[in-house]
Amino acid sequence: MPDKPTPASKVLDRVLVLEMVRVTEAAAIAASHLIGRGDEKAADHAAVEAMRKAFDELYMDGTVVIGEGERDEAPMLFIGEKVGGAPGKGPKIDIALDPLEGTTITAKAGPNALAVLAAAEQGGLLNAPDVYMDKIAVGPGYPEGVIDLDKSATENVKAVAAAKGVQPEDIIVCVLDRPRHADLIAELRGLGCGVVLIGDGDVAGVIAVTDENTTIDMYMGSGGAPEGVLAAAALRCVGGQFNGRLLFRNDDERARARKWGIEDLNKVYKLEELAKGDCIFAATGVTSGSLLQGVKRLKGGKMTTESVVMRASSGTVRWIKGEHRI
Ligand code: FBP
Repeated sequence: MPDKPTPASKVLDRVLVLEMVRVTEAAAIAASHLIGRGDEKAADHAAVEAMRKAFDELYMDGTVVIGEGERDEAPMLFIGEKVGGAPGKGPKIDIALDPLEGTTITAKAGPNALAVLAAAEQGGLLNAPDVYMDKIAVGPGYPEGVIDLDKSATENVKAVAAAKGVQPEDIIVCVLDRPRHADLIAELRGLGCGVVLIGDGDVAGVIAVTDENTTIDMYMGSGGAPEGVLAAAALRCVGGQFNGRLLFRNDDERARARKWGIEDLNKVYKLEELAKGDCIFAATGVTSGSLLQGVKRLKGGKMTTESVVMRASSGTVRWIKGEHRI
């Protein structure tokens, strides 16, 4: 292993992109013991611990920029925590992570829980505070600017429908099933759109727009800002468009954003501003869903996992099926 710091241009090469899957696999397997056990906290804790440990096996000098919370509220994988087995020596990588995206899903054995992370060269990922983000996304193949968060849902649906060559009522939109989205859902249904309501897990919800098999054309609505950055990293790799605007409920949340260097609190972020330069997205299914199969425990101590790892600079997407023996 090299002793000199790695040049920035080689940073992600050296991290061995595929190795990131070991990290999400470890978190998913750990969380899978808690699927359907009704204990969100225990599932999250298991995933966090396993992910933290797996990072230490990687030759990198990593910093968590989106994690489990701030130092005083998260014992592990907090924002600013150093991870990786080569501090001061390995390539400097910024990491956004969610060891268990879908804690409630896991506790209730619902679909689409993921262990997920994004990695980029230092400074490549927006240090999004743990606030809400208003999001809109569309898959690849549309003219740049077809979606615009400053426009109404109706205008956006009409623009996407026109670009796709269909009527607005042919457009399918994925939305988190929350009371705060009642007006949005009514507006979409008023247009005749199909609305796919998901209970949780908007990282998978946003990524669903990139996969024709899901039949979902657009994602709309508010969810976690950290999840927005993770989904944006995936779209940087596979194509598609995303706009996100941070939403603040009080002055404390505004202060938190300023602390992380965010000056313009009303800014609409595009993909490149959320995840810039080369970046990696990796995820392993905890429970089965639109993106990945979940962890399966088979006879004889065998387990199977399904993961995806993508890289922006090459556009490579690798689907990895793992067999693990306990
Ligand atoms: P957790 O894994 O933290 O439970 O997040 C699940 C999730 O559904 C995210 O995918 C989404 O961004 C966020 O919660 C939405 O927040 P809320 O449940 O407050 O609407």
